Amino acid sequence: MNAIAIDGPAASGKSTVGFQVGRSLDFVFFDTGVMYRAVAWAILEQGISSADSVSVGRVAGELPISVSAPRRDESDGRQATIQVGELDITWSIRSSQVDSIVSVVAANSQVRQELSRKQRLIGLKHGSGAGGKSGVVMAGRDIGTVVLPEAPLKIYLEAPLEERSRRRYREITERGKAADLSTVLDDMRLRDQVDSERAVAPLRPAADAHRIQTQGITVQEVVGRILALAADVLGAGPASTGDKDFPLEGSQGIQ
Ligand code: DC
Repeated sequence: MNAIAIDGPAASGKSTVGFQVGRSLDFVFFDTGVMYRAVAWAILEQGISSADSVSVGRVAGELPISVSAPRRDESDGRQATIQVGELDITWSIRSSQVDSIVSVVAANSQVRQELSRKQRLIGLKHGSGAGGKSGVVMAGRDIGTVVLPEAPLKIYLEAPLEERSRRRYREITERGKAADLSTVLDDMRLRDQVDSERAVAPLRPAADAHRIQTQGITVQEVVGRILALAADVLGAGPASTGDKDFPLEGSQGIQ
């Protein structure tokens, strides 16, 4: 199976690095956090409290989430297009309201059961090459431990809380939104705590994960290290597909 699992806390670099690794190897890149965010977005829309675990679990089972590679005309910085039915929620799932409830939603055992089952199917399909690409890079919190424990290459990215908060602050302000660094830091500390202390599939490195500290090294260096490991473990080398912008063409589905 050609699968690379990348786990780690918020803003540790998973999607920036994972996207580039996917592009270099001509693997699909799939950021699983978008599914938890889509459920959080949906319960806000429907006025359901994140504490109502039965209703939240039901939403996770029913929500028609789709994830696809962006079309070439969608050049607004997105790595994937996230839809619920026909509605494009790619940017709505990045709101501060979603941020503030998503870790509670992701701690719901029914939600995890629904989403990790779907994620595993996506991982198995693309990891076997059945999706038209040579493999898959999956990013999340529990990919190496729960979703794809058989992935031959597992990476765990880490960086101190302060550094990750600065990255998230930059990300928000670069999108033209106002933010306060100390609030971002407090929120991130809380999310780290909920993600790593939850009963089901808590954030932790798999025993056989390669841990990479991302503070003080460039994205290119992290990507380079993972590509070297991929060459070693998977025998996978840079794709000869030239200048493709995205891991999948046009509106091809990731799931
Ligand atoms: O990576 P992110 O910030 O978009 O993730 C959103 C939330 O979903 C976060 O609280 C962690 C959770 N998550 C998870 O529990 N398991 C995953 N595989 C991916 C994300």
